[in-house]
Amino acid sequence: MNHPALDIVILAAGKGTRMRSELPKVLHPLAGRPLVSHVIRTAREMDARRICVVYGFGGDAVPQALAGEKLTFALQAEQHGTGHAVQQALPHLDKDGVTLVLYGDVPLTRADTLRPLIAAAQSGNLGLLTMVLADPAGYGRIVREHGRVVKIVEHKDATEAERGIREVNTGILAAPSARLADWLGRLGNHNAQGEYYLTDIIAMAVADGIDVLASHPNDEWEVLGVNSKAQLAELERIHQRNLARELLDHGVTLADPARIDVRGELVCGRDVGIDVGCVFEGRVELGDNVAIGPYCVLRDVRVAAGTKIEAFSHLVGADIGEDSSIGPYSRLRPGARLAREVHVGNFVEIKNSVVKEGAKMNHLSYIGDAEVGAKTNIGAGTITCNYDGANKHKTVIGDNAFIGSNSALVAPVSIGDNATIGAGSVIVKDAPAGELSLSRARQLTIAGWKRPAKKLRREE
Ligand code: UD1
Ligand code: MG
Repeated sequence: MNHPALDIVILAAGKGTRMRSELPKVLHPLAGRPLVSHVIRTAREMDARRICVVYGFGGDAVPQALAGEKLTFALQAEQHGTGHAVQQALPHLDKDGVTLVLYGDVPLTRADTLRPLIAAAQSGNLGLLTMVLADPAGYGRIVREHGRVVKIVEHKDATEAERGIREVNTGILAAPSARLADWLGRLGNHNAQGEYYLTDIIAMAVADGIDVLASHPNDEWEVLGVNSKAQLAELERIHQRNLARELLDHGVTLADPARIDVRGELVCGRDVGIDVGCVFEGRVELGDNVAIGPYCVLRDVRVAAGTKIEAFSHLVGADIGEDSSIGPYSRLRPGARLAREVHVGNFVEIKNSVVKEGAKMNHLSYIGDAEVGAKTNIGAGTITCNYDGANKHKTVIGDNAFIGSNSALVAPVSIGDNATIGAGSVIVKDAPAGELSLSRARQLTIAGWKRPAKKLRREE
């Protein structure tokens, strides 16, 4: 069967006055991504020919934020209502197709909820997403006669009797595009708000003998919109609860499903455990049996099977091998590539470095632009001095080396396999394999030296 092609219009021109922000409402982040990006992601699941974003408030901020995505943009320079907004998209719509209208500030609608609307439009009808609410105040009301939808009345235009109707318009609808263009062309703005209401097309469709087929979302949160910071915070919690539920269903152990934040994609193996207060950003992959301690932040990180991340660790752009132990209080920065069975302890920072199997650095170190050999031990307080004030240089440490505590390795420099560096050294020349190298003032004992005593202040 050949369905008419689908175009999707996303309304995103509004200012969102109640957000009290300079940022256009649809760009406020939910789970780390702009609200409108959630809508676009759902739209992409619908196999649309074209996705057209109607923008307005904030100038080019919306198109700029979405640059790089395959989208069409239509400018609605002044916001004269939802019908006027869809009109701006008309030049981009294929008249042989159907159009689905979504709202840029309604981020959590499921794709499956939208499919019946599209199917209705593709069979020549109008699909409308409605919902019965305990408190319908503020919404457009669905007016039915003999059970059939005949029109929508906006709250501000509704009579007392109509305000008693609890079935409301979610705003989301789908219709054959040629019909839609015709109806939009006939809209007037003689109403309480002086706006061109998209909702007025319902009565026009009925007058044209088109069936209005109302369907409903499974959950109310699917059609909740964001108008204020309070609603944004509420939706964030709902979304995070849903994501936590998915992780639990997948078999992940969460110490508290209400205390995890996923702002991106979290992919977990079997028997992963996550303690409270962790934040996952970008794409994070956790292998089988990985355990994440409390209050860790992981962004664009891969953690291989069996590794433990202890409390308060901050890991960004790192790749961590199997059966390793990281933290508490470790910081891994982009380009930290750790092999298996590596130990990184408290207050150790690693950036752009390769650390080979079984190496240990347990306390107070900075390892940057370095290579650390297998089974090498980096003593407490060791610093790779990678920056000369202008350029970065590399430190290469061989296998099974031992770097004494509080050493400064001034790059470019290399330490051979099995080399030992005496504690407190400043190493500026290559240290040969297998030998002890050190650079430090020799220890003296001054026989008979006395500590100065505190002078007594004579009272005058
Ligand atoms: C709209 C519906 C109402 C429905 C409610 C659901 C109309 C006339 N009313 O009312 O039936 O119950 O949504 O939340 O459609 N927008 C533009 N350009 C404009 C006006 C709005 O892009 O000129 C965008 C807004 O940014 C927003 C969406 O359209 O994302 C809805 O606009 P809003 O003003 O919130 O409509 P409501 O009055 O809530
Ligand atoms: Mg609204």
